Amino acid sequence: MRKLLAMFVQEFIPQPYLSKNEQGSFTATAPSNIALVKYWGKLENQVPANPSLSLTLTNCYTKTKLSFKKNTTKDFNFNVFLDGEIKQDFKPKILHFFKRIEAYLPFLKEYEFTISTENTFPHSSGIASSASGMAALSVTLMALERSLNPSMTDDYFFRKSSFLARLGSGSAARSIKGSIVVWGMHNEILNSSNYYGVEVQDNIHPIFHNFQDTVLLVDKGEKVVSSSVGHDLMIDHPFAERRFEQAHQNLSLLKAALKNGDLNKFIKIVESEALTLHAMMMTSMPYFILMKPNTLEIINKIWNFRLMNSTPVCFTLDAGANVHVLYPAENKTEVLEFIRKELIEYCQNGQYICDVVGNGAKLIEG
Ligand code: PMV
Repeated sequence: MRKLLAMFVQEFIPQPYLSKNEQGSFTATAPSNIALVKYWGKLENQVPANPSLSLTLTNCYTKTKLSFKKNTTKDFNFNVFLDGEIKQDFKPKILHFFKRIEAYLPFLKEYEFTISTENTFPHSSGIASSASGMAALSVTLMALERSLNPSMTDDYFFRKSSFLARLGSGSAARSIKGSIVVWGMHNEILNSSNYYGVEVQDNIHPIFHNFQDTVLLVDKGEKVVSSSVGHDLMIDHPFAERRFEQAHQNLSLLKAALKNGDLNKFIKIVESEALTLHAMMMTSMPYFILMKPNTLEIINKIWNFRLMNSTPVCFTLDAGANVHVLYPAENKTEVLEFIRKELIEYCQNGQYICDVVGNGAKLIEG
């Protein structure tokens, strides 16, 4: 296993850099993503136990500016700011990330970094900022590496950004490039890898090009069980092996539905994946529940609305109580009206966020 791993990661260990960069800054944005086939359970080195597939979002994103100058110490040296305020409590996670990726970015201790970050969605909204945050930071770090090695190709730039982001937060690997991204080896996805996300290259039916995701903020509190503890509970889980096989099968079925625009099949797989994720949590030892009563109220309302109106609207869930309502752009008016009339009352402070499928991370000026 170790030998195999070494073989795959070798391409991300750089040759000595030929250029220099004493000081400067890079800024990137990276969006959040919503998994349709869920990643739940991992092996050593952030290798997923099964492949996952996600839609990249647009409006929920993190913007990160990485400023750097030559380090006066011989150790990691950085500060983190969120919305202009220093965040000491973010430091341990980033330090852990830097230690993990140092072998792939050997310049990390040579600079003093200031990492200034902001999210377009409220920090305590229950929308995980770790995927977009780790993706944005990885892209800025890769911009710095590219300035030291200007011959780097775009393909390598994005692949390694995803490879690094994964080491910060698994699902962050899917927030770098593309609208529909698979992370984890799957025999029907060309070039798929356990080490980085790849864009699904198949012809995707146009209905999914601007698919809508309205995120209903049901509960903004701290999660009772973190994702990393949840992933670990899949070790020795009585249904784990069967679940990992099912994810492979669901990914094949979903790939076909995405290609031919079969919304009925899409809905069945997406909702089943969401409920299976939560079923795994409920059947872990110790068991736990992240859904809230209002999560179930919303699910039932969606089922009822779909039945009564034949509107192709469905839901998915993250590791939390919030509900992602998914539907084609052509149904936007009626679904938003339904949300306003029937679902808002189940959202904390009536809050929801309208989002749409997007393209991934971007390096920007400033
Ligand atoms: O990236 P992590 O370790 O926070 O795990 C994310 C897990 C889920 O959001 C529940 C599923 C997924 O595939 O994004």
